[in-house]
Order: sequence, then C-alpha cells, then structure tokens
Amino acid sequence: MSTTVPPLDIANVQGDILAGLPKKVQHYLLFQIDDDVQAFRQRLKLLIPLITTTPQVQDDRAKIAAAKKAATEQGKPAPLVKLSGINISFSHSGLVKLGITDDLGDAAFAKGQFADSATLADPGSTDANGNFVPNWIPAFKNPIHGVVLVSGDSELTVTATQAIVNGIFNIGAHNATMHEVLTIKGQVRPKDEKGHEHFGFLDGISQPAVKDFDTKPNPGQETVRQGVILCGRENDIVAGSNPPVPVVRPAWALDGSFLALRYLFQLVPEFNTFLKDNAIKASGLTPEQGSELLGARLVGRWKSGAPIDLFPLQDNPTAGVDAQQNNKFRYDFPDDPHTQDRCPFAAHTRKTNPRADLEDLGISTENRRIIRRGVQFGPEVTPDEAKSGKTKLGRGLIFAAYQSNIVNGFQFIQQSWANNTGFPIQKNPIVPGFDPIIGQQSNLAPRTLSGTDPNNQGANLSLPTEWVVPKGGEYFFAPSIPALKSKFAL
Ligand code: HEM
Repeated sequence: MSTTVPPLDIANVQGDILAGLPKKVQHYLLFQIDDDVQAFRQRLKLLIPLITTTPQVQDDRAKIAAAKKAATEQGKPAPLVKLSGINISFSHSGLVKLGITDDLGDAAFAKGQFADSATLADPGSTDANGNFVPNWIPAFKNPIHGVVLVSGDSELTVTATQAIVNGIFNIGAHNATMHEVLTIKGQVRPKDEKGHEHFGFLDGISQPAVKDFDTKPNPGQETVRQGVILCGRENDIVAGSNPPVPVVRPAWALDGSFLALRYLFQLVPEFNTFLKDNAIKASGLTPEQGSELLGARLVGRWKSGAPIDLFPLQDNPTAGVDAQQNNKFRYDFPDDPHTQDRCPFAAHTRKTNPRADLEDLGISTENRRIIRRGVQFGPEVTPDEAKSGKTKLGRGLIFAAYQSNIVNGFQFIQQSWANNTGFPIQKNPIVPGFDPIIGQQSNLAPRTLSGTDPNNQGANLSLPTEWVVPKGGEYFFAPSIPALKSKFAL
C-alpha cells in the first residue's frame, strides 16, 4: 500500500465497522457465488448504492436518538424507528472465485476459519486422512464466498430488505448469480434483556474508540489508531512485528476491515445449573447471591454490566449502564499484582482485554483490540429447559468482530489468551486457567481456573462443560465502497 494515504473519508467505510448497523433484528446471509462470475459482478454493482455507509449509520442513530428524546419528553415509551441496513463481506474463497488473487496480507484470512478451527481449539475429531474436522454444522464445512448483513428494526423490515438483496442477485431464479448457503437470523433479546447476551450479561459495553472518529471516548475507554481496525491506516502492522512494521497490502484494501464471524451456541440452562451448584459461600450471602457472584467473577462484570473490578462484592446496576463509570477500571494492583480479590485473572473480560496486566509490564494491547458487533440468536429459555437444566432449543451469539488483522486480533485473543491457561502472564505461582466463557480445548476435558472464590483464591474451580459451543464460522473482508466499485463490481 502506498505511503501517502489520504485522510479518512468515513463515507468510504461500510457502516457496521466503525458505527455498528442499528438493529433489533439482523440476518447473516451466507452465500456462494454461482459460476457466471461476470453476472455476479454486474449484479453487485446494483447492490453498492444500497450498502449502508458510516455517515448513513450516524444519521440513522441520530433519528433513533431524536425519536427517543421526543417520546421521553411526552412521557411515552421510545418508538421503534423503521430502518434497515446492508453490508457485504467476502471470504478468501470468495476472492478466489472472483479471480482476485492479490495477497491481502492476513494468514488466518487466507487459510479460512475451517482450517483454522484446530488452532482455535474448537471441539472436533480427526478424519481417516488425519485431518482435523471441527464439530460444525454442514453449512460451514463447505466454502462460503461471502456474507450479506441485513439489519433493521423488525423481522418484517429485515425480511423485506433481504428480499431486495435476493432480487438483485436473482437468488432462487433460473438466472441466479449467487445462492444462499444459510441465513442465520439474529435478534436482540426482549424487554429488560435487551442488550444482554443469553447467559444474562449486558454486552457491547467495552469497545475501543477509534482515533479521530470516536472523538469523545468514555472514561477508561482506550483510543486505538485507525489502522488497528481499518486496513492501510496508521498502525496496521504485521502480526507480531516488534518494532512494528506496516503490512504490505494491495492499494484497494485501504479502509476495508476483516470480519471474524463465529456461530456460537450457548448452553444456558447448564451454565445456570453450574452457577447454582457452585454458589460462592460467604457470610451474609444467600445462595442466590453466591451464584450471582460466581457468574460475575466468571465474566468480569455483573449481569447489569457493572465491572467487578470496581464493584467486587455487590452489583451496582446504575453504574452498569453508565458509560461514565462502566469502563473506568484497569485491574491494576501495583502493590500486589498476584491478588484476585476483585477479579479472577481468567475472567472473560480480563482475558480478552487484560488492561494493566500487560500495560504495566510495558506491553501494549492496542493491536489486540477488536470492535465487536454481532447479535443473539434463538429463543429465550423455556420453563421446561430451565426446570430440566438441559438445552433443547439452539440459542447463542452470532459473534462478529472487526479488525485490520485477524492474526493480531480475534485469533490471538482466542488462542493465546482465552485458551492459554498461563495468561495473563507473570502471575507465578498462580496459573490463571481458562477463560470460563470462551476458553476451549478440543478434547473437551474439564477446564480449570483459579481465583473464583475471593475467600479462597488458591482453590481451582473445575468446569465440567464448555458452555459456548462453536458450530461454524468464517473470516471475511469488508471492502471499502471504492474497492467494491473498482475491484469487485463490473
Ligand atoms: C457466546 C460467547 C460470548 C459471550 C457470552 C460473551 C460475553 C461477553 C460479555 C458479557 C462481555 C462484557 C461486556 C463488555 O465489556 O462489552 C464481553 C466482553 C468482551 N468479549 Fe465476549 N463473549 C463471547 C465471545 C467472545 C469471543 C469469541 C471473543 C473474542 C475471541 C470475545 C471478546 C470479548 C472482548 C474483547 C470483550 C471486551 C473486554 C473489555 O474490553 O473489557 N468474546 N463478552
């Protein structure tokens, strides 16, 4: 990529990356391009004007905020603003199908997530040829060329918008230019659970601020240089390079971003049963409070979103949703870096963004940051499932994270942090253990972690089950609008 990069024009960047497509419902249309590639590229040209850009997302968000404000002033509940959004990304096999042979400079992307699943320690087995095969659903075992994200205020709007996309590519017709492999349908959880993932915890709180885009970061929110998220910008560096070396990418990769998509099922009744059976016992705590405390110590936040580093013993729901407070913590204990009083080393939020655990050792975490989008899928837990403690209906998280470099970002976080029992480093003689939410080992042996009981930090807790079960995924590249026009469409 050339050294003279023009200043960022956010109208060039697809809207989900920096601003996040607003959604109550979101479909992920996973597709394969049919053999008439030229016809596909001609059709893509018709889609480009419908792709939601970053300024359009900002406008949509302003509309939502205005409607909310007006409703609050009139003492009414906030109305649903009718809107929809579309973004598109391509996998490596999609690029190959299109005849785009430039090396995008990301080894994980080039390999594809199916081949990367062993590195991620997804559960699976070895086939007759000695190849690792993850326990994924069939749709993800064949090449997926790309994904169209369709989001909006309701299932009705999103289905109607997806019908427009289907029409553009003639999906299902005799002159189809692509076909659907699978559409994963996600939706935000209902009522008070809005914004909470299926285990019950408020999600989407901690995101990096992007320099000169998110100009008013919240207290404790780290600002990253644009190249951590957008390819070709400042600090888009070769994985593991120290001192940092800028990645060489084709010029058209500028302002694109890699999307790590994971289809993650969650065993919610089983998780809840474990919390109940292993409630932390301390004077003054009821069994329910003890199990809430254990859940909070596994995640690093209370269900309300309040960080346990700030509120170690009792939830603070007001702080949980207050952006002025809910990121203002660092896990820094200069006097005793070995204490897990406030937060276990292996808690999910600490594993995936260790803050002072590395920064105080002089190790920057800037290039490990990712922007998480994604959405929940599947129904609420039924009374029958809650009673039996057994999952009968599939539900979970469509995990979707953007970064300029998958090897530096998602892959590193999963492999070298969440799955690595020795991370955070330099806690000897304590072995932190697995991230209890996403840490995995492919043989599914019980995982352990330390520090969950604040009164007995030396004790390890054994986790019998992996409650997050990966059933598929792929790595994609979300090109800039100019790249879509010049490189992808005809
Ligand atoms: C079903 C699977 C998952 C669940 C239930 C889950 C849940 C959560 C929750 C409740 C939070 C706290 C809210 C927040 O800080 O925004 C969080 C934060 C986070 N998660 Fe996950 N997560 C899942 C998968 C993943 C995966 C696969 C990764 C990456 C490999 C990941 C990376 C992160 C990161 C980076 C944060 C922010 C930490 C911080 O900055 O403090 N999560 N997650």
